[in-house]
Amino acid sequence: LEDIYKDFKEKDKAAENGGGEKAIAKQKKAGKQTARERINMLLDDDTFVEIDKFVLHDSHNYNMQNNRVPGDGVVTGYGKIDGRIVYVYAYDFTVYGGSLSRTNANKIVKIQKLALKNGAPIIALNDSGGARIQEGVMALSGYSEIFNNNVKSSGVIPQISAILGPCAGGACYSPALTDFIFMVRDESYMFVTGPDVVKTVTHEELTKEELGGASVHSSKSGVAHFVGNDEEETLMMIRELISFLPSNNMEDPPMTSTRDTNNRKTPDIHKLIPEDSNIPYDIKKLIEEVVDENYFFEVMPQFAQNVVVGYARMGGKPVGIVANQPAYLAGVLDIDASDKAARFIRFCDCFDIPIITFVDVPGFLPGRDQEHNGIIRHGAKIMYAYVEATVPKITLITRKAYGGAYVVMSSKESGADINLAYPNAEIAVMGAEGAVNILYRSSVGEDRQNALNEYKELFSNPYRAAEKGYIDEIILPENTRFKLIQALEMTANKTASNPPKKHGNPPS
Ligand code: COA
Repeated sequence: LEDIYKDFKEKDKAAENGGGEKAIAKQKKAGKQTARERINMLLDDDTFVEIDKFVLHDSHNYNMQNNRVPGDGVVTGYGKIDGRIVYVYAYDFTVYGGSLSRTNANKIVKIQKLALKNGAPIIALNDSGGARIQEGVMALSGYSEIFNNNVKSSGVIPQISAILGPCAGGACYSPALTDFIFMVRDESYMFVTGPDVVKTVTHEELTKEELGGASVHSSKSGVAHFVGNDEEETLMMIRELISFLPSNNMEDPPMTSTRDTNNRKTPDIHKLIPEDSNIPYDIKKLIEEVVDENYFFEVMPQFAQNVVVGYARMGGKPVGIVANQPAYLAGVLDIDASDKAARFIRFCDCFDIPIITFVDVPGFLPGRDQEHNGIIRHGAKIMYAYVEATVPKITLITRKAYGGAYVVMSSKESGADINLAYPNAEIAVMGAEGAVNILYRSSVGEDRQNALNEYKELFSNPYRAAEKGYIDEIILPENTRFKLIQALEMTANKTASNPPKKHGNPPS
């Protein structure tokens, strides 16, 4: 038996060598870690359990039967993050460029099914040249099955993708179907067609980085949610995100103990918000002032900065935060901001994370570009997402709330549970100048000033809304944290559901 065990140990060690020393050296030279190193970095120490380590491909094209590497270029298994089970798979670029074969697709599918059946997050570490060219449609069928499982798992378990190298062609669509995409600055890229094809078809000359690098996807396309400066930082950000999420849609988000007190006053907010409602301020400062230990984990910080989304904790409980950002484009809603907010709201609702909305919004962005590119259907997504969401929804109007933007930003009649406003809130169809320009088009001088004063007196306050119960309570900024926690406690046992249906048809 000793010999058999020895033989096994040797085979086991060899299998962990992936594509061999030369390929590993090339990977290192490119500044990248191996698949197993990445997994070990991501997970709690000594928790990774690898499965299907000895799987071999069965392709005979191009004499491939003579080059078979145990595991076939994808490392799969499960382990723990902060003591909680997660499933993980990592493409191993040292084996056939991490390309997807029918065989290693089966490994991924097995892990996806285990994650779904057992209700825990799945994390994919991508670094792959795409479908294994030598296998043709066999490899493509592997993608189909992976995507199929991505869709079935959506809303049941959190699905997270990290891009740690190339991700090209069809390979992009698995990450795109997952909930969050992480990229590494200057190391990872994603595109459906690469620079060579682009040059042939459109005559544009672009580098891989210019076409689909981390900065493009985190600031322009909105494909990536997080960017790390290196692999380690990126993997640590995944751990951070997981700390806010339940393992599945039947579990509550994880509670954390906090040193912060629920009734802590927030007096600095009073100094933060300028009296003149046209002067900007940074809503992130307000959020940080309010949440546990001033810690806000922002999602998509570089994309559509006019709306801010992310996670924090209140009284130790995770919350999702959606906020207009007066410091960027005056906090106006546009196409990208609508897409960003809507998807975030839907994720929170899938996983039972209460949503706090901070409103300071002058309206939707006017202009031909926005109208022609469909601000109507994009803007409608926010409304759809808020109405559909059955999690606790708490809204605080910190200053402006005008027109259609007031309506879509979790207004009372759209289904919010508690709507709060500061005494300086302005809740109206539009600002005073715009309204007087329409109602008293020809007025000038003193008449115009009188009209402005009359409008401000009537509408530049929260009292009309409070008279009708559209605002439940007017609160002082110094009580913001306490009041929000009260509302969260009051709604903690909320039960609500939508009418039975196959599924809705959100605008897209
Ligand atoms: N199928 C099979 N083997 C692949 C592969 C694929 N899709 N992509 C890469 N490989 C192999 C390469 O042949 C090479 O093998 P070798 O070491 O035996 O020579 C190895 O993986 C490393 O690839 P290489 O091209 O040397 O790495 P690179 O870092 O210079 O370039 C890519 C990486 C991804 C840009 C490049 O490999 C590529 O363009 N791949 C094809 C991408 C594609 O169009 N895929 C189909 C999309 S569905």
